[in-house]
Amino acid sequence: MLTSRQVLERPTAHGRPFALPALRHPSVSALLADHRALLTDLLDGLGSPLHVVLPEIFEENIGRLRQAFAEAGAAADILFAKKANKADCYVTSAAALGIGVDVAGAPELVKALAGGVPGHRIGISGPEKDDALHRLAVQHGCLVAVDSVSELRRLAATARLAQRQANVLLRSRTTAQPGSRFGLSAAERHAAVGLCGELSGHISLRGFSFHLNGYSTAERATAANEMIGHCLDARRRGSPSAQLVDIGGGLPVRYVEPQLWEDFLRQNEPAHYHGAKDFNGFYPYGGQPAAQAARAIMAHPVDGGQTLAAKAARHGIRFVVEPGRALLDQAGFTMYRVQQVDDRRDACGYAIVTVAGSSFSLSEQWFNSDYLPDPLLLSARPGAAEVFPACVAGSTCLESDMVTWRKIGFPRPVRRGDHLVYLNTAGYQMDSNESPFHDAALPSKAVIRLGGEGARPRWRLDGI
Ligand SMILES: Cc1ncc(COP(=O)(O)O)c(C=O)c1O
Repeated sequence: MLTSRQVLERPTAHGRPFALPALRHPSVSALLADHRALLTDLLDGLGSPLHVVLPEIFEENIGRLRQAFAEAGAAADILFAKKANKADCYVTSAAALGIGVDVAGAPELVKALAGGVPGHRIGISGPEKDDALHRLAVQHGCLVAVDSVSELRRLAATARLAQRQANVLLRSRTTAQPGSRFGLSAAERHAAVGLCGELSGHISLRGFSFHLNGYSTAERATAANEMIGHCLDARRRGSPSAQLVDIGGGLPVRYVEPQLWEDFLRQNEPAHYHGAKDFNGFYPYGGQPAAQAARAIMAHPVDGGQTLAAKAARHGIRFVVEPGRALLDQAGFTMYRVQQVDDRRDACGYAIVTVAGSSFSLSEQWFNSDYLPDPLLLSARPGAAEVFPACVAGSTCLESDMVTWRKIGFPRPVRRGDHLVYLNTAGYQMDSNESPFHDAALPSKAVIRLGGEGARPRWRLDGI
């Protein structure tokens, strides 16, 4: 007799697992189609999992975003949010292309400087920074997003000792998300602006920033408009250099076709997952591309009709934008080697594929969620075409170490020694939760430059 758990784990009436193919940049497709032997050698030689990072696509994303702001008539400085990927190659690309870097703390700041990004192009946005980080920020002329009046006082004291001025953004809570743990309340902001005036020998108030959860372009535009108001107020109160509005990160990324994403959400149910896992929510994988979202923010009507970009231009406001995920869109993927296949199709309708490595190298657990785009199956030998439902497990001793809880409809049976490729993993997936659990080495990152049509791809290990 079946237990209720077994019933839950059986495939539903819909039968086949839902296919959610990941969108692919043409260069990624070309690499997978034409240079399979190189990828296999790298995975064999450097170990599983292996992260492949593609700085040329990162550079292309910078160009696209720059163009979006320029076409919207907005003056904007792009700072790459370094937290989204630890690879040094992206910082080097940022320095080469003349964009800045947004860092949360001293180790990221050091990496940004070592990668060649000048201090005046570095923003520091971690909450309640300590004095050591303040000292570095002041020495290098970085832009510091200050979270509280007490942090502002500490920063001013540090700048006074160094006989310099600190460049400051006042991070302010927005009307839409007044409960955010980041930033100043209206009363605190009022006090901080007054203090900036009093401490003008050591504090240069450059503008305002905010932290917003979610991907609503309208909400981000409205918050930016509030910050323009704060700049105008600060100028009236004796801080003429208040000219920057930092709209943060949060530009969306499209991983899968939007229609498919809508269909997925309609059909999604716990029976589609190992252990009938019921997730509360997912990243919006079918969202609009980042450049389109940037255009929508800048074109958003504010104050009875004019666009946000037009209002900013009228008041001499320059935007700062801190994309992480968006600049990394398509700029990397992750390969795992299949270590074992436990074929439970007769018992419960799907197999468990165990890969060398763990789910810490494909993080969504921080958000208690699953990385949903289907992995690709690369096999050395062709197999019979037949849908093979399987979830993917890590090779640690934790029951919860699932790389993919969702049952994937692989196009043929998965075999030991096959490779799985998770596409578009550079933004947060690769390394934000990586762990040396079980004394495992952290996965390598192979930087591949494709070099254009007909060229031989060049690879090296990441590092400065
Ligand atoms: C202050 C700040 N800037 C930028 C980002 C980057 O966000 P995203 O990767 O969604 O663009 C974050 C994300 O947490 C952030 O907190």
